[in-house]
Amino acid sequence: MDLRTGLGVAGKGTALITGASSGLGAEFARQLARRGYDLVLVARRRERLEELIEELLTTCKIAAEALVADLSQEADLRRVEERIASLQNLALLINNAGFGLRGRFHKSQIEEQLEMIQVHVIASVRLCRAALPVMISRGAGAIINVASMAALIPTASVTYSATKAYLVAFSRSLQIELEGSGVQVQALCPGFTMTEFHDAPRSSRMERTLIPGWLWLRPETVVRASLRGLERGETVCIPGMIYKLAAWLIAEPLTAPLVRLIVRHIYLRRKSEKAIKDRTESKSDNK
Ligand SMILES: NC(=O)c1ccc[n+]([C@@H]2O[C@H](COP(=O)([O-])OP(=O)(O)OC[C@H]3O[C@@H](n4cnc5c(N)ncnc54)[C@H](OP(=O)(O)O)[C@@H]3O)[C@@H](O)[C@H]2O)c1
Repeated sequence: MDLRTGLGVAGKGTALITGASSGLGAEFARQLARRGYDLVLVARRRERLEELIEELLTTCKIAAEALVADLSQEADLRRVEERIASLQNLALLINNAGFGLRGRFHKSQIEEQLEMIQVHVIASVRLCRAALPVMISRGAGAIINVASMAALIPTASVTYSATKAYLVAFSRSLQIELEGSGVQVQALCPGFTMTEFHDAPRSSRMERTLIPGWLWLRPETVVRASLRGLERGETVCIPGMIYKLAAWLIAEPLTAPLVRLIVRHIYLRRKSEKAIKDRTESKSDNK
């Protein structure tokens, strides 16, 4: 089994992964290291990147480096672009760094919304632009833009949904432009996935307990589906049957309102269950 990167099994080339210090990014690093890719791992938390590299080097015969960068900062983003342009054996670029925001758009700090557009959209577009000349000149390579189911189903995370929808539209059109070049693009659209995403203090509007257990995906499953999707040439990859079904239903004008209704119902029911639980707990604390 080999991805369409144009490189033999012995020398798979290098994969550059943003947001590799935890969650999906770290899991991409683990699965790609096992397949023999050299790695450049990008994130802000140096210790986390170094710990992961130490873990990977003990089990896999690869080269790996940490590139500490904050993709919301111009100088850091430029350093990552330059590193990409210097990687003559660049086989994979995975634009995965991202975060969620709590609260309502109209009450938010506009700086945080713009930071999200910068990290999800501007950084991904710039890193694609930096990577493509290298990949096209080699006639091989692949880019994975980590979007979300929130790109396909409108959610209350306004800018989050919009930035992820951009990545899906961008990837779809880019794939058309790249036809016949040997370079592939994928927009990965995971549903709820067990990572640190929902733990970050300013992250995500939804609490974990509001989401039923059967909707949660494991990072291993998401990354396996993404890499398998690349092998099959999928431009939009939706891991998990339940999410595939939801994406199909939301794309149909007749069934789309039903999906929105179900999503709203699940969310509101869980929210009221949680409110009751919180009230009961605070009453028993006060006794
Ligand atoms: N978990 C879900 O339910 C879910 C569902 C759909 C899509 N996604 C998407 O999946 C991607 C990965 O998220 P995850 O679930 O794996 O969450 P995670 O465990 O919180 O990982 C997020 C990663 O992004 C990095 N990052 C955030 N801001 C950054 C910045 N300014 N510069 C550089 N790196 C930055 C973080 O590293 P540092 O903090 O070290 O910088 C971390 O490595 C995100 O794009 C997210 O939107 C997640």
